[in-house]
Amino acid sequence: MKRRDVLRWAGSASVAGGAAAAAGGAFASSAASAAASAAAPAQGPMPAPPATAAVTLPDRASFHYPADVCYLDAGTMHPISRGAQAALDAYVSYRTVGQGRPPSMGFDDDEVRGKFARLINAQPSEIAYVQSTTAGENLILQALGLPERGAHVVVDTLHFFGSLPTYGELARQGVDVTWLRPRDGRIPIEDIERAVRKGTRLVALSQVSTINGFEHDLRRVCEIAHAKGALVYADIVHAAGCVPVDVRATGVDFASCASYKWLMGDFGLGFLYVRKDRQALLRPRQLGYYALSAFAMHSLPFDPPEPPARGKAAPPVDYARRDDAQGLFGIGTYAHTGLALLNHSLDYLHRVGVAAIQSHALTLTARLKEELPRRGYALFTPPESRSPLVTCVLQDARKKLSAPLNEARVRITLSANRFRVSVSVFNTLDDIDQLLAALPRL
Ligand SMILES: Cc1ncc(COP(=O)(O)O)c(C=O)c1O
Repeated sequence: MKRRDVLRWAGSASVAGGAAAAAGGAFASSAASAAASAAAPAQGPMPAPPATAAVTLPDRASFHYPADVCYLDAGTMHPISRGAQAALDAYVSYRTVGQGRPPSMGFDDDEVRGKFARLINAQPSEIAYVQSTTAGENLILQALGLPERGAHVVVDTLHFFGSLPTYGELARQGVDVTWLRPRDGRIPIEDIERAVRKGTRLVALSQVSTINGFEHDLRRVCEIAHAKGALVYADIVHAAGCVPVDVRATGVDFASCASYKWLMGDFGLGFLYVRKDRQALLRPRQLGYYALSAFAMHSLPFDPPEPPARGKAAPPVDYARRDDAQGLFGIGTYAHTGLALLNHSLDYLHRVGVAAIQSHALTLTARLKEELPRRGYALFTPPESRSPLVTCVLQDARKKLSAPLNEARVRITLSANRFRVSVSVFNTLDDIDQLLAALPRL
């Protein structure tokens, strides 16, 4: 259900009996059931994106790319494209004027959900909007009843570093956490095989590591976990939009991502995938009106009367949860500015195609993987990696590289003892050469 549905429905739709409604029972009024089906998520394959001219890579024209900057940091925060900015401007004018000019927001949240679902080969009913990647991960943990004393969870340290304290906290609260550490920049599949045991509740990882672009064989991880009865959560923020994500083929149970990286959106809006046949396993701790498929009040003037048998202590409202991911995790309104951007950028991603985006990135990362070691830099990205991220370990990287890179106006991710280059649709081999020229030889 959306805000407009509740506003429209408040006091005007009724459901058949409190208990039946609370259990997801049938609607009594035809108006209500029509509205319910309008609110239900679209099923089946999503329509193809609008036919527009093909995009060839590198595509600098779609971005405001200042001539004097070399931006190799899309993995931290992807630039917003010109088209997405225009979509955002149109939405802001809709909100600014407040008189319906332009007459519509220009997008629909179910449509945007469908575009994302198609990107990862999910059904729209398997996707909920969330505030961020981390919010999605925490919602899953909570809905699985974690922390629970003695429950066994496996996590690796190439997972998002910001999530490691989450598992540290679970450990403090009695969860038995197995921490897998990288070897040669990889989490070997044998280590996962050894760590997962009968009774393991969850394996939590990033499909593509933010640290160095290492990519798990997610299908194999899921096979191993499922064979022992464990579930798998994957952070896909460095996968969705830049490497193929196929939740159906991998069998992953839960996945979450924000939109400010490879989805070319902004902060404050992300997606949580919940595999259809795992939805019944989850016990969400919250219920907000965006999770509802039915809603009817019985306390205001002209409201339909309460069924008399219920008694005064019963809530003067009937409601039912949606039977989908949004029904589990929908709470309240979410970032419309983010939806405006995504409505455009998901079309863009479909138009260019993730395979083409990955192939373009591989041309650029191949040069980095060849040249960086020649200049004395130690690659921390496995050479076979097919992600757009290339990381080197270097003691005092930030101290050593800030000045030369600033001077050359080259932007990468600089950490205390590492640096990471990330390449996207607008980058060229010239950008790579500009970076290489700016890096001091070791
Ligand atoms: C792998 C990974 N997961 C999660 C995040 C943070 O995501 P959010 O801010 O959406 O929770 C990042 C941010 O860099 C990341 O690289």
